[in-house]
Formats: sequence, structure tokens, C-alpha cells
Amino acid sequence: MDFSNELIERLKKARVVSALTGAGVSAESGVPTFRDPGGIWEKFRPEQLANFEAFMSDPDFVWSWYQHRREIMREVMPNPGHYALVEFEKIFSEFNLITQNIDNLHYRAGSKRVTELHGNIERNYCVSCKTFYNDIDVNEKKVLLCKKCGSIIRPDVVWFGEILPRKELIFAEDCAKNSNVFFSIGTSAEVYPAAMLPTMAKQSGAYVVEINIRPTVMSMDVDEVLQGKSGEILSELVNNLKKS
Ligand code: OAD
Ligand code: ZN
Repeated sequence: MDFSNELIERLKKARVVSALTGAGVSAESGVPTFRDPGGIWEKFRPEQLANFEAFMSDPDFVWSWYQHRREIMREVMPNPGHYALVEFEKIFSEFNLITQNIDNLHYRAGSKRVTELHGNIERNYCVSCKTFYNDIDVNEKKVLLCKKCGSIIRPDVVWFGEILPRKELIFAEDCAKNSNVFFSIGTSAEVYPAAMLPTMAKQSGAYVVEINIRPTVMSMDVDEVLQGKSGEILSELVNNLKKS
């Protein structure tokens, strides 16, 4: 992979670097993406599953699907892309990692600070009293009840029609506005408000870099496109930065 001199120079001088990641970053770990061929939304309608009304009308069905995804996500391992982003924390004076992924793989790889815009599948909370329940046994196929109030517990993930966690979104917007270099990695950049972050960064003067195996709706608007697998490109970039 040829990185432009401009990118390397900008990264060397950068005070703040941020990255937005999507499902593509975990593809090399074996977690299916949403919109690629064979992806999750080809098999299921989002309204059936990732939706509060669907959950309330058939909690066991939605719960068992999330248990299945939890199982997949626990079995896989972080890939070189996740590990390269851990290195970014050491290389840059300030590095902000913002993710749309709920799979917990950035933390498992060792990233210390991750802003999770769509929640984390390892957390659950009671729909009534909001008590959190983590470390759930994946063999519990029927929805679990809150020990305090008896209501059902749901995964702490953002569903269609729900708003993103406020603190995380505000922080992500601040990152977009204040970064010298902003990466958009392994995301189709089609789901808002996360998808507006690279544009916001660009408007605020950041050098915006997209890493993806194929062009996206955003490719024409960024400063540099690195086409290929994020695990490979990010590892090469880390090696390049460590050498220079
Ligand atoms: P998508 O499935 O929409 O997009 C995945 C992107 O990753 C695509 O653009 C692929 O081309 C790219 N990709 C696949 N493999 C790759 C690889 N090895 N290296 C680099 N890129 C690769 O997933 P997201 O953009 O994350 O939201 O989707 C955003 C949101 O839509 C998700 O967080 C989820 C979903 O509905 C919620 O559940 C709220
Ligand atoms: Zn409760």
C-alpha cells in the first residue's frame, strides 16, 4: 500500500487524530457486516429485530438473536486492524477511537478509550428501572427478568428509531470538529448520525481518510481513499509510522 507523503506528514504533525470504525473493521475477525453481500440485513429485516417494538412484542425471539450474536462475538478474536488502532493510542499525542460496533473487539484488543455510539452487546439493562446486567450467560435463550423490578432486560445497543447516547455523540462531534486527521474505517457511512462525522471533520479542516474494501457514498468527498482490508492497511500504516 502506498501512503501519500501528505498523509504521513500530516500524521507526524497531527495534534489530534480520530477514527470512526464500522462493521468492516471486524469483518476479518469473522463478524458479519450489515450491508455487504451475505450481510445481516440481507437475511433479516431490521424492523424484525433491531427495534424496541419488535422486542416488546416477542422478547424471547429478539433476545435469542442477540444471544446468538453475543456467542459469535465472544468466539472470535480481534484482528490486526483492532491491534493497529491500539498502537495509534501510543503513536499520536491524542487519539480518539469512535465506533459504531457493538462487538467489544476494540476493548478486547486493548484500546483504552473507546466511544461506543451504538452501545455494546456485552451490556444489558432493565427496560423499566435501567439496572445494568453484564456478563450474561449465552445459554440463557429466554429473555431474563430484572432482579429488582421484574421487568425484562434488553441489550444495551441502539435500535432503529432510538437516539444515540448523548454524551458519546457530543464527544464524537467534538472529535470531528477538532481533529487534524480523521479516519473513516470499514463503514458504509450510510447510517446517521454517525455517518455525518467524517463530513463534519472535513468541514472543520481535518484531512479525511477512508479505509474500505470498496468505494462508499463518501469516497468522493474525502481527501484520501485507501482501498483494501482494514487489517492489512492499518498494520502497514503503523509500521510505516514507527519507521519514519
Ligand atoms: P455496513 O455493513 O453498512 O458497512 C460495512 C462496510 O465495511 C462496507 O462499506 C464494506 O465495504 C466495508 N468492509 C467490509 N469488509 C472490510 C474489510 N475487511 N476492511 C475494510 N472495510 C471492509 O456496516 P456499518 O457501516 O458499521 O447500526 O453499519 C452502520 C450501522 O448500521 C451499524 O452500526 C448498525 C447497522 O444498522 C445499528 O445497529 C444501530
Ligand atoms: Zn428493573
